[in-house]
Amino acid sequence: MQKMMIVQRYPDLKETSRRVADLFMHLSDKSIEQKGRFSASFSGGSTPRVLYQMLGSDLYRKKIQWHCVHLFQVDERFVPRDSEDSNFLSLQENLLKNINIPEENIHPVPISNNSASGAAREYEQILQDFFLLPSGKFPVFDFILLGIGVDGHTASLFPGTKLLHDQHHIVVTATDKHHKHTRITLSLPVLQQAENIAFLVSGKDKAQVVQKVVKERSPDIPASLIKTETNNIKVFIDNAAAQYL
Ligand code: 6PG
Repeated sequence: MQKMMIVQRYPDLKETSRRVADLFMHLSDKSIEQKGRFSASFSGGSTPRVLYQMLGSDLYRKKIQWHCVHLFQVDERFVPRDSEDSNFLSLQENLLKNINIPEENIHPVPISNNSASGAAREYEQILQDFFLLPSGKFPVFDFILLGIGVDGHTASLFPGTKLLHDQHHIVVTATDKHHKHTRITLSLPVLQQAENIAFLVSGKDKAQVVQKVVKERSPDIPASLIKTETNNIKVFIDNAAAQYL
């Protein structure tokens, strides 16, 4: 039985981001207490920047046990690290430069490889090594943060692509709809299996797609496919994006 998406709406992006930061802190403490570490995978794009800045601010950075947190990327554009389109550069500038996290706890998509498919295989190996995965098994992250594009994509899983049916790979390559970048992304099965999944969505331009995802659960919208039998999925959303709910 597919579990519900729990929608939590707040006045604006700042307050919405703050609630995600609280959840991150709570889940990391719980996971670290239970097993000594917390594996989290962050999406790119612009919406989560406020959250990342918050996690690196005096409000949170000293309350989170960063030495036990392992940060991964949900997806990355196959661009140089200093490109303005690099999700990792955004993470560095908005969070990593402000927190005391061991270098070995940061696991970016390896874009130094000479091909996107090579980078995907390399990232897959990093995940298999970290999660000690037997062959054919998928990693189970403690926490995955996702966004939703206006077309309903999440991670770099775009509507109408065959990637949505890939049940074999941990990491896959994709091209965005404008074919601006080749991307490396966690696959749908990996996103679905996370212990805790949080969407962070903001702005009136997302209101229509949010209605399709949350209310209609339209199967042609990738973000709708993030369903799981084990956990409720939390959708943190501001009033502008929630106006049709
Ligand atoms: C990316 C993201 C992507 C993002 C959505 C929403 O690499 O672009 O991982 O999936 O979450 O496109 O992006 P915004 O937050 O910028 O609207």
